[in-house]
This record gives sequence, structure tokens and C-alpha cells, in this order.
Amino acid sequence: MDKLAIQGGAALSGEIAISGAKNAALPILCAALLTPEPLHLTNLPRLNDIATLLRLLARMGVTVHDDGADALTLDARRLDHPVAPYELVKTMRASILVLGPLLARHGEARVSLPGGCAIGARPVDQHVKGLQAMGADIRVEQGYIEAKAGRLKGARICTDMATVTGTENLMMAAVLADGETVIENAAREPEVVDLAKCLIRMGARISGVGTDVIAIQGVERLGGAEHAIMPDRIETGTYLCAAAAAGGSVRLTRTSAACLDVVVDKLMDAGCDVELERNAICLKAPARLKSVSLRTAPYPAFPTDMQAQFMAINSVADGVATIRETIFENRFMHAGELARLGADIQIEGGNAIVRGVKQLQGATVMATDLRASASLVIAALAARGETVIDRIYHLDRGYERLEEKLSQLGARVERIRNAPPQGQG
Ligand code: EPU
Repeated sequence: MDKLAIQGGAALSGEIAISGAKNAALPILCAALLTPEPLHLTNLPRLNDIATLLRLLARMGVTVHDDGADALTLDARRLDHPVAPYELVKTMRASILVLGPLLARHGEARVSLPGGCAIGARPVDQHVKGLQAMGADIRVEQGYIEAKAGRLKGARICTDMATVTGTENLMMAAVLADGETVIENAAREPEVVDLAKCLIRMGARISGVGTDVIAIQGVERLGGAEHAIMPDRIETGTYLCAAAAAGGSVRLTRTSAACLDVVVDKLMDAGCDVELERNAICLKAPARLKSVSLRTAPYPAFPTDMQAQFMAINSVADGVATIRETIFENRFMHAGELARLGADIQIEGGNAIVRGVKQLQGATVMATDLRASASLVIAALAARGETVIDRIYHLDRGYERLEEKLSQLGARVERIRNAPPQGQG
């Protein structure tokens, strides 16, 4: 298993380009299942999660043509095996996003239940309930969702909570359904909007995206399209936090602050100087950060995917911050690892109380999930001495060329390849 060795204490400076958004790319790749015509995508991030999903789509009969750099063409003309097996789904929950499109176009699907994951139970009951309301016959047998449908029928669906992939799955099912579907309490995340833009280019009729009521008029068939994936707002936020914690001044290009308002505001509250350009963001860190309290909630509030990174910056800020996590019940695992570096964090139910310390010290830590890993990288950059982060396969799932980008900003980061597991020499 690869590890990352980071020598902390170097301020960051320079410019890097932000990649396409993982959480927009994943549903958009699944949208290729909805049409027999080619879907051409650009600004795709090269990540392990994307590679896993492409393997899954290829097994279903989708032809994947690599157009070089960040571009791909998918062709689902010969979609003939509508199955998402356990081996692939267990490594990536987003595989559940094939369920809606498969049912809509193929009339059947067999998708392994994603089950729990490190950050919480994460059920998919809302996906299933919505598809049933559209006329699908769904059973769970031997750990698989077995779904069948004739042509899906438009329905009025109100989800119990705003769910991002739930809204995406139902929207993809509804685009080929007979009649109108209305999704109430829909997720408003920018990635849902990016998926809708791609579907509209393919011929779908969707209104209300970006609000909590989305209306979809089903059409008989969708065609091919070209679409550029939106920039990754969480990758952007992560590098801004890295510069805030390590000190220095950075410019992030090929991105935008349009979907990052609350994150940028919090960084300014922490004392950072942030300048916004049309397709770039510059951040200059203060000599010493001020702590900032926050509460995660669905978009447009503070994103749960940035909570861990802000725990890291609060660890080295002046003052006491309260961080409240309201989306996932077990998303504080990084607190224990940050404590190994000397952070002072107390967990009380869904709250983390972070008392900033003068200086973190390098240590050996373990990555537990994707954003937790990002918080360890940020803390390591701010710490004195060397930090070794184990199990960085989590980072490879969601951050494209992380060491290369950090090195470009002057960080001292090295990947230790295939390090033997701890305790086995
Ligand atoms: N929920 C249910 N039932 C459902 C669906 C969701 O109870 O059928 C609950 C979840 O357990 C959670 C809440 O609803 O408590 C919201 O979860 P949501 O469905 O919105 O999460 P998701 O769609 O599984 C996506 C992102 C996550 C991100 C969340 C929240 C993708 C592929 N994943 O997950 O990204 O944290 O939305 O914004 O889009 C990450 O990138 O690190 C990541 C975890």
C-alpha cells in the first residue's frame, strides 16, 4: 500500500490548475447509459473512482474510447449486461448511479447494495422509493437490488432528505419516463446542476435544477452530446485550506468561486486574503489563522466534504472553534489522527470542539476516508517535521496528481510506493 511522506513547515507558493469534479463526472459517466449515441466528455479527472466506474460501464457493454488527456467518448449502443457486481460497488458507492439509467433504458438492472461505509450507514432507500413510485418492481435478493420495469412512468416524488446521488439517480430515470416527474426536496448541489446540463444537451427536458423542486418531462429517446465537466469545488477548497494552513500565497486556475461562497467567506473570516478572478482564485495566508466555527448542511450551506479540511486549519488557528456535522453520523474519524500530530479536538456527539495549538508536530497517521485524508495532508503541511500518511488509496480515489500539484506549490511531498503493511516489516 502506498504512503505519503510530507516534510512540513514549507510555505506554499505558485499556481496550479484544478481538475474536473469527481462528483459531477461520476453521474455524468452513468448518463452515457441513457443513449445509444456517443457521449463525448472533457475535463474528466483521472482518478481511481473514475477508472472503477469505467470498468463497470465496460462490463455492461459500453465502449470507452480514450481521446487523450482529459477526454473520453462513451458509446452504450451495445448495452447488454445490466449488472453492477459487489466487487466493484463495494469499492465505490457511486456505482449505485447506474440503477436509474439502466432501468430507464434497459428495463432491468441488478446492482449490489452499497452497504455502509466509513463515514456512515448511507442507505439508498430514497433511490429505491422514488423508482418504485415510477412503476419499477424492486426486490432485494442476496445483497443485490433486482429491479425491473416496463417504460417508467412520471411521478411526484418527495424525498425524506435532500440526497445528492438520490436526486441524480431519479433525474436520470425520469428523463426517459412516460410523462412528467417532479422531485421535491431535491438536492441543489452544483454537481446535480452539471448533470442536468449534460442531460439537457442530450435532449432531456428538465426545469428547476438548482432549486429544491425539479420537473422532468420524459422523452422517447436521448441522443449523443458533448459536455465539459465542471471544476472540482472540493479540490479547490482543499488547496485553499492547504495554503491557509501552511502559509504562503497560491493561485488556483481553471476553477471558479461561484459554488464556493461559504468556503471562501470562512477562509476570509480565518484571516486569509482571497481574490477572485473569472476562472481563478488567489489566496494569501495570514501570519496566524483565526479559528472559525461552522455547521455542515446541504448546498448552498457549508459542504460536509470540506469539514475535515477546516478541522485541520482550526487545529493551528488562534481560538476555539465548534464544528457541527449534520450530514453523516460518523465523519469525525480524522479527529483522532489529527490528535497524533498534536491537535486538541474533543468530540461531543455531532460536534467537534477544536482548540487551536501553537504548532503541530509530524507523526505517522492513517487515512480513513477521502476527505479525512485531505485533512491529514493539510495538517502535515503545517506541522514541524515529517508526517507519514498510510493508506493513501483513499486520496487517489478523489485527488488527481496530488503530490505533483503540491510539489508544484513548493511542498516537500514524496510517495513511498507499495510500502509493506504496518508491522510486517
Ligand atoms: N440518505 C438516506 N437514504 C438515501 C440517500 C441518502 O438516508 O436513500 C442519507 C445519507 O445517509 C446522508 C444524507 O442522506 O445522511 C445525505 O446523503 P447523500 O445521499 O446526499 O450523499 P451521497 O449522494 O451518497 C454525495 C457525494 C458525497 C457527499 C454527499 C453530501 C457523490 C458521489 N458523493 O454522496 O461525496 O459527501 O453527497 O454532499 O456525489 C466525497 O466526495 O468525499 C463524498 C463522500
